[in-house]
Amino acid sequence: MNLLTIEDLNLENKTVFLRVDINTPVDPQTGKLMEIERIKEVATTVRDLCFVKVVVASHQGRVGRYDYIPLDQHANALSDVLGKEVKFIDDVFGPKAREEIANLKKGEVLLLDNLRFVAEENMEYEPEQAAKTVFVQRLYKLFDACVLDAFPTAHRAHPSIVGFSHLLPTCGGRLVVKELKALNRITTAAKGPYTTVLGGSKVTDRIEAIEALISNNRADKVLLSGLIANVFFKAANKINYKLGISNEDEIVECARTLLAKYPQVFELPQDVAVERDGERKEISIDELDKNDAIFDIGSKTIDAYSRIIRSSGTIFMSGPAGVFEKKGFENGTEGLLRAMASSFGTTIVSGGHLTVALQRFGIKEWIDHVSTSGGALVLYLAGKRLPLIEALERSAMRVKK
Ligand code: 3PG
Repeated sequence: MNLLTIEDLNLENKTVFLRVDINTPVDPQTGKLMEIERIKEVATTVRDLCFVKVVVASHQGRVGRYDYIPLDQHANALSDVLGKEVKFIDDVFGPKAREEIANLKKGEVLLLDNLRFVAEENMEYEPEQAAKTVFVQRLYKLFDACVLDAFPTAHRAHPSIVGFSHLLPTCGGRLVVKELKALNRITTAAKGPYTTVLGGSKVTDRIEAIEALISNNRADKVLLSGLIANVFFKAANKINYKLGISNEDEIVECARTLLAKYPQVFELPQDVAVERDGERKEISIDELDKNDAIFDIGSKTIDAYSRIIRSSGTIFMSGPAGVFEKKGFENGTEGLLRAMASSFGTTIVSGGHLTVALQRFGIKEWIDHVSTSGGALVLYLAGKRLPLIEALERSAMRVKK
């Protein structure tokens, strides 16, 4: 892979735009950050940039969701991890932010507010167009270089990823390099059969990636749980109520096509856990009532999936199997992660929620690679080109010329 690292750019005393991904799980009730794994991971890059003026930028959550919050808590957490002050400004590209950036001194760290508070950061662009957005145009002249370290956002062609890097000398941060090295080592040594375990609540990216994973021989089996399992249940006419996801009909149709094309690949839960009278109750799919909210997979499914996991050569898991934060509904996520931890195959676990789960169950060190990345990693393993990596490659070519 042809990309530059911090040492390749002459950054002494310069002002650097550092795009990280410290998008963190948030407690829906309290609005507080549930863990700070991604913040700890990017601290290495911030620390290694102590000889420059660092402007750190990240998104958090998605517009309209409970996790779409400002980054003041992140600034405090980063400050605690670094053991030094991290300034925070409740602005992204307005006069307040520009003044703070212009006044930064060598060694100082400033965190901008949630990038997705800027409308343009919620859209995808070609690099030339991203460079012309108001967001990038208002800020880029204040910077000498750009460091891309947002590996979990590598699949988004947002202005902060492809815009600044189009105009400024750009290199990869420590986390990007660490992830790419680990994934490269694992994927070159990987052996079949390949099993992909998909859960959680993000559906669109995963549906897109499944076909690529299967056709690149990276998924002999796909074990489904969470919201994505419901999409496939709907495609198989097992449930017929609205799931509340955007482009639902289109996504269900995609799942129907995949099921018809690869009938041997997909495994759907035989049983699920719902809440009745405040208790976990395991029922088969046929007993499911439209008022039931599914919170986990059932015991039969955990056993069946665990057997497949333990007989696989390479296992990749993204997204929890249930709402493991809810008491009584952790069995699925714990069971599948334990099956991975005790497997002789190569194991990769991805995403913030599963990192929290691994820590809670005390088995993180038994997994070969725990990635900070969710959807981006699925697409990477599926062999898709990622805008952040392409931006790094273009910059390396420009700087070397
Ligand atoms: C993630 O957590 O997967 C990344 O931060 C990307 O978030 P997004 O799917 O909302 O773009």
